[in-house]
Amino acid sequence: MNLKLLFFCLFLAALLVPAELKRKKHKHHDPDHEGHGPGHKHGKKRGKVEDILRDLFFEIVEGAGDDDDDDDDHNNTDWVFELQEPDGQCDPNPCRNNGVCEPKGKRKFKCDCPKPFKGKKCQRGPKHCKKGRCGRGECVLTSTPPFFECKCKEPFQPPRCIHLSLCEPNPCRNGGQCIKNGTDFDCLCPTGYRGRFCHVGPDDCYVGDGESYRGNVSETDDGHECLYWNSHFILENGADPFNSFEDSDGLGPHNFCRNPDGDEMPWCFFRQGRRLSWDYCDVTECLKPTDVVPMEILPIDADPTAPTAPTSRPTTSEPIATPKPTASKPSTTGSPSQAPQPSPTPTDVPLNATAPPQQFTTCGQSQPKKNVARIFGGLKVPPGAVPWQVSLQVRPKNSNQPYRHTCGGVLIESCWVLTAGHCSEQMKDMQVVLGGLSLDLEEPTEQAIKVEEVIVHENYRETTSAVYNDIALLRLKGTNGVCANESQFVKTACLPDAQLPDGMECKISGWGATENSQYGSNHLLDANVMLIGQEKCSEPQVYGRVLDNTMFCAGHLLGGVDSCQGDSGGPLTCDQNNATVIYGLVSWGDQCGRKNKPGVYARVTHYLDWIKSKIQAASS
Ligand code: ARG
Repeated sequence: MNLKLLFFCLFLAALLVPAELKRKKHKHHDPDHEGHGPGHKHGKKRGKVEDILRDLFFEIVEGAGDDDDDDDDHNNTDWVFELQEPDGQCDPNPCRNNGVCEPKGKRKFKCDCPKPFKGKKCQRGPKHCKKGRCGRGECVLTSTPPFFECKCKEPFQPPRCIHLSLCEPNPCRNGGQCIKNGTDFDCLCPTGYRGRFCHVGPDDCYVGDGESYRGNVSETDDGHECLYWNSHFILENGADPFNSFEDSDGLGPHNFCRNPDGDEMPWCFFRQGRRLSWDYCDVTECLKPTDVVPMEILPIDADPTAPTAPTSRPTTSEPIATPKPTASKPSTTGSPSQAPQPSPTPTDVPLNATAPPQQFTTCGQSQPKKNVARIFGGLKVPPGAVPWQVSLQVRPKNSNQPYRHTCGGVLIESCWVLTAGHCSEQMKDMQVVLGGLSLDLEEPTEQAIKVEEVIVHENYRETTSAVYNDIALLRLKGTNGVCANESQFVKTACLPDAQLPDGMECKISGWGATENSQYGSNHLLDANVMLIGQEKCSEPQVYGRVLDNTMFCAGHLLGGVDSCQGDSGGPLTCDQNNATVIYGLVSWGDQCGRKNKPGVYARVTHYLDWIKSKIQAASS
């Protein structure tokens, strides 16, 4: 690599990586820690008037308060869909938001969209939160007309957050005194109260992991102001709190920290420039969990930023139903098959001939709870959501050096992992780690198991432009056919039993390089990709003629979401008859995330017999 480019990359990595890798310590309830007035513990106070005025996000746009205009060109994303049209018209239904699909000609379709949705795939809804609509405020979505509300940044005033009024009405709560300070204001809080608006009381603390926390803290650990859970900005960036969490009880049209997804403590989304981020909050843990009543009874729609000023409030605590990308159901017959077991008839063998009967009796079922996308370059995988994901790790033979992650893999049976052929490093000691999410922490959920044997496909072949038959089986070390133990975090993926339709949305996951970190992510990330037709991917501007039927492409032809270095061998899984099947193994690609250069995956359906025969041979 050119030296200048290398320095530039290092510079970027230095800027971006620490944010992603940081892990914070819990704070404990500590009276000294509480601010009693304008002085803030972070030294720098967020949300100052000058910062708000400088923030391009809150730019005043002339005429932005006017009518909807959802036909503007910026919003028209039809061309995205045209670029990667699946060949099979209406099955699966490409129309979103309950649009009705009508086939047109051999390859085309037309979506009849229910009002108010528009666009080739009914993907465009009304744009209630147009840029500038809320002036110096956050636009949040509500379920009743006009379907949005402006949450003004103090001291900007409703309804449009354009005009400013210092201390009138008094934004400080709990008897806090508003003190003018040039063009700004400060709240002088009574003892025990803290927060920019004195909205955090002395008993505001959380117990355990904070799942029951219903307190008022609305700032991250670093002092970023939390976004409203029904913020338009969160939805626009692909996360959907109200529909992604198992327990969205504590969420509402407010911006208080919560822990709806089983994380270790309350957290919230915040905006960093144009990017959506999340972080743990500046909440305190209750001193004696048994003596302290957690704050569960506060009204969930109490609004810390507009406590005394009457604002037009939504009449319900639900955000409006938002257009969610739907993964189309495949139209296949039969059901996904469990990985085969040694037996004379590989097709109808009992499922777990080698493992105790209570283990791995079903495949392709992830932990259903707490699945959420929190965006930070990729999507952070919550515990148990990709329980078949394997980190394949190596170290020099017979050394006691630490193992390092080299590739992904997929657990298909207690003692068998599928990975890419090019991940095999026969000259090294290999182990797999299952059930873990973080590469730099030893997690109680993880199982590290030595690799006993690597079986690379006999016709594995690498050329300068492609990798063929890029598949390998890892036989794990165990006793009596038991290697991995099934748990909430360790489960097998099913083998597919049929081809899936082009255009179907599937999932990739891994610890590989991201746009922010060429060294990979410390936390397991996942992303959605679409299966791309073989013909489309063999077009000259994509990969031309190097593809054969042992591989397929998936991703986004526009670029962006993709697997990358370090993800190889890892899963591309799809839903087939209510189970997750391992449909592809990350193999290769022309760099990562480039336009017209999607990821290429080993086609697992092509290797079903190979997989069965190898497993059988090893077990007989
Ligand atoms: N060969 C890479 C690895 O060893 C995977 C590359 C995938 N590339 C892509 N653009 N999808 O990890």
